[in-house]
Amino acid sequence: MESQNRIMNSMIITIDGPAGSGKSTLAKSIADYLHYIHVDSGAIYRGYTYAVIQKIGYKENHQLFGEAFKFLSIPPEEFSLRVEFSKQKQTIFLDDQNITPFLRSRELTERIRYIADHFLYRKAVNKILKEISKLHSIVIDGRDMGTEVFPEAQFKFYIDASIEERAKRRFLEIYPQNPKITLEEIKKEIAKRDEEDKTRKIGALKIPKDSIIIDTSFLSRNMVLNLILSILNFKF
Ligand code: CDP
Repeated sequence: MESQNRIMNSMIITIDGPAGSGKSTLAKSIADYLHYIHVDSGAIYRGYTYAVIQKIGYKENHQLFGEAFKFLSIPPEEFSLRVEFSKQKQTIFLDDQNITPFLRSRELTERIRYIADHFLYRKAVNKILKEISKLHSIVIDGRDMGTEVFPEAQFKFYIDASIEERAKRRFLEIYPQNPKITLEEIKKEIAKRDEEDKTRKIGALKIPKDSIIIDTSFLSRNMVLNLILSILNFKF
């Protein structure tokens, strides 16, 4: 009975947007404020990419990695990937090892597209997401959350920012660990990922038609957070 109530009462807030738009940080802050669970769908794609890398290696470059992945046609069921939440924080396990700290490297990011383009992997990720949404109220960020995975969500946001601003934010994040990186390189990588994300056959990044669109190029994190919280307060 209790779980039935939780299912009936659970809320879904989706936040979609391109790389570096700040949607993940924002989703986390909103979830903290509302005492919901923050679900980072991109991290699950990253988790599967990590699992495939463990199995076939990085290969010399991402194209060769893509070819090997296609040739070997490894199904997602081959991996025991688990998503857990503790104190509202998402952790990803592969064979009971916490792999969350290893998911944001540039080499891994470059290889995600082959996994994210694959319909079986999209199906596997979406299944995990649906299971989580049955048990918790969630704020979930990604590319296709409001369009394909949770079209029924009560609130949908689309967060964007200019490519210059997104590259600058990513640069400031990466630079301390990699002082050789240039802003131009990051801008190129983001532009490439935008193109891949917007043109993929399934799960492409699109603006959900019933979403609230916020351009954060000239807004601080706190301003965006306050704006969204006031919209939610108004509509709740
Ligand atoms: O943090 P950032 O925006 O750079 O990326 P992310 O949210 O961790 O997602 C990494 C990649 O996973 C994206 O570039 C997409 O290719 C893919 N992804 C996806 O296809 N669908 C989602 N719902 C979330 C991520």
